[in-house]
Amino acid sequence: MVSIGLDVGTGFVKCVSDYGSVIFPSLFAYRDLGKWDESQGRIEAVGKRAKEFARYPDAVIIRPVSEGRPIDERGFEALVSEAIIRVCRIGLQQNDLEREHDSDIGIIVGLPYDASKDKTRLRKIIAKRIRPKNYGIVPQVLGTLIDMNKKDAIIMSIGQGTTEIVAFDDRKPVFGTSVSQATDFITLGLGEFSYLKASTFTNHKLELRKNVDKLSDILSNKLVGFMSQLDNKNHYDIVVSGGGIMIPEMKESLETKLGRKFEIPKVPIMSNAIGLYKLATKK
Ligand SMILES: Nc1ncnc2c1ncn2[C@@H]1O[C@H](COP(=O)(O)OP(=O)(O)OP(=O)(O)O)[C@@H](O)[C@H]1O
Ligand SMILES: [Mg+2]
Repeated sequence: MVSIGLDVGTGFVKCVSDYGSVIFPSLFAYRDLGKWDESQGRIEAVGKRAKEFARYPDAVIIRPVSEGRPIDERGFEALVSEAIIRVCRIGLQQNDLEREHDSDIGIIVGLPYDASKDKTRLRKIIAKRIRPKNYGIVPQVLGTLIDMNKKDAIIMSIGQGTTEIVAFDDRKPVFGTSVSQATDFITLGLGEFSYLKASTFTNHKLELRKNVDKLSDILSNKLVGFMSQLDNKNHYDIVVSGGGIMIPEMKESLETKLGRKFEIPKVPIMSNAIGLYKLATKK
């Protein structure tokens, strides 16, 4: 059986399997071919290729995930199957794996802490594309906890659409919140797809620094408020994951404002998916 951990984020899909891992932008696009094209009909694209459709004025580009939740079912389905096909293809170098390996998949998918109500809907969307043997939906930051081999910790995951803060006791989520400010807050003013360009982080240092300072004001305040509601806050290690902690100066800014250091996974943006994968291998 193939084990898979899947984290479909607002900005990027992260997927880890026995064969390796993939990451691609959470974008879905389609375009109707015109009178002068050799073939006719609708063409669809996912990930980086979907972003490239931006050069056609008649293309439709959709972000299927907002604040960590599916908002466009067709696009979300396309992201899920693309992720699974890509990770399986790494190992088997075949094209049409989807149908053949359906029943041989054990998958754990992560959702935001506040999105437990979306569980049934997510299950239905995924079942349209694959029929896994084992299947689980968990709070996505449980992935980071497991990736870091911890049992009791406060995990803060700075994503693109949301920042999740969840406290775990013996691997059980005891208290959590989703904050609606995340890296979009830092990069949105630089253009819709600026977060996809590495040059954004080198060419706009001044503006980014200002926004990092503001976002870290918000997040440190939320984290301190969060911890003040816990009985024994010193009992918990703090771990910060998600792509947001990779933005230059974010770590330093947050640590200064919090007045304490925290741990960061080796690959912060993949940490949720890595842990979800580890969970999938145990089922
Ligand atoms: N190498 C990098 N350097 C700087 N920042 C980065 C890097 N890689 C990713 N980021 C930042 O991380 C963001 C994406 O983070 P992440 O993939 O954790 O969000 P998400 O899971 O898609 O969103 P959400 O969890 O809110 O649904 C990017 O938009 C970018 O701002
Ligand atoms: Mg995320």
